[in-house]
Amino acid sequence: MNLELTETQTLIRDTARKFARERVAPQARAMDREERFPTELFRELAELGLLGVNLPSKYGGAEAGVVAYALAMMEMAAADASVSVAMAVTNMCAELIHAFGTDAQREKYVTRLTLGEAVVGSFALSEPHAGSDPGALLTSAVKRGDRYVLNGSKQWITSGAHAGVMVVWARTSGTGNKGLSCFIVEGGTKGLHIGRHEDKMGLRASNTVALTFEDCEVPAENLLGKEGDGFKLAMTALDGGRIGIAAQACGVARAAMEATVSYTKDRKAFGEAVAEFQAPRFMMADMKTQLSAAELLTLRAAYLKEQKQPFTREASMAKLFASETSNRVCDKAVQLHGGYGYIDEFPVERYFRDARVQTIYEGTSEVQRLVIARETFRLIG
Ligand code: CAA
Repeated sequence: MNLELTETQTLIRDTARKFARERVAPQARAMDREERFPTELFRELAELGLLGVNLPSKYGGAEAGVVAYALAMMEMAAADASVSVAMAVTNMCAELIHAFGTDAQREKYVTRLTLGEAVVGSFALSEPHAGSDPGALLTSAVKRGDRYVLNGSKQWITSGAHAGVMVVWARTSGTGNKGLSCFIVEGGTKGLHIGRHEDKMGLRASNTVALTFEDCEVPAENLLGKEGDGFKLAMTALDGGRIGIAAQACGVARAAMEATVSYTKDRKAFGEAVAEFQAPRFMMADMKTQLSAAELLTLRAAYLKEQKQPFTREASMAKLFASETSNRVCDKAVQLHGGYGYIDEFPVERYFRDARVQTIYEGTSEVQRLVIARETFRLIG
């Protein structure tokens, strides 16, 4: 893996950093307090190519690769994890449709996502009783003539109320992982109802809703891949998605660490800056070392995906380690801020809340361990 960035990767990282610092970070605290989803920012993200970083320019993408995508995600998450998760899911949906879609689906929907015409994308896999085990999902899709009719409920759907384009999983036959299929559903389709808006601990500017499909008719041409391919499509998308969440975790951890460096240099205790004491310095040494390891794991998984090499295990390793690191780093950041870490005047309180979901969504830490172990036994056995 080359540790030196290419010109394109540097350009994407710097573009994302500038936008994140100038347009996103100044609003992050208010958006969190008001639980405000910043629709307007996504048009701008699209103009910068950040909604299709790893997609061809023919489909409105930046054609900059997966490493550039991970770098952009780190920058966005350092400013605001909520904006970064909607960016991640939009990239994930666009890549999935690009990878498995027909030319017509690519023309129509990938472009809509990358150019921001859909505002954002949504990934509707989880259900109230089926999160880690998507094979248990109950939403059904029945073919009637030139349409599929969808019935069922989804839960924890990121950006669900704002998405112009969703990828939705439903059962067309069989049981368990077999017989699942994936559909492209446009926001506002008749029979698609937006349900409760979740009142979350963190990521409060990200919209998370339940969805209900009630005799929701989707044109048969919106089936993505073949009937029964759904589980593999979901796993493929999640492999890439986990690189995005690993990068998000690195971004949030970096922001927490940097805020703590500034705070402990300024804050005095017993006549000296807190940063001069050995205990905080050792904590900082661990935070920085673990963060660097998380960044390297993330960029390695991104590099492997970009080189079209197997990366399932590496994406899970990156997601597992980065999300757990992010939680540890944010916890120490709050500790080193003392009482000020516990109030919303300082950003570490928000970073701490935002980090918490990272070990849960796009596969819990336990699911990542299952994948890492499965792949390790498979590859070495
Ligand atoms: N790529 C391609 N195919 C894959 C694959 C991958 N990464 N992983 C598994 N498969 C294939 C297997 O080869 C196997 O194929 P065959 O049947 O042909 O042999 C099939 O899929 C079944 O594989 P497993 O037996 O390993 O499946 P499993 O039932 O044991 O489950 C699991 C594995 C890892 C637990 C999986 O169910 C999983 O990842 N669960 C977590 C789901 C998840 O991450 N949900 C997050 C929701 S989305 C979200 O959070 C988005 C958001 O908005 C932020």
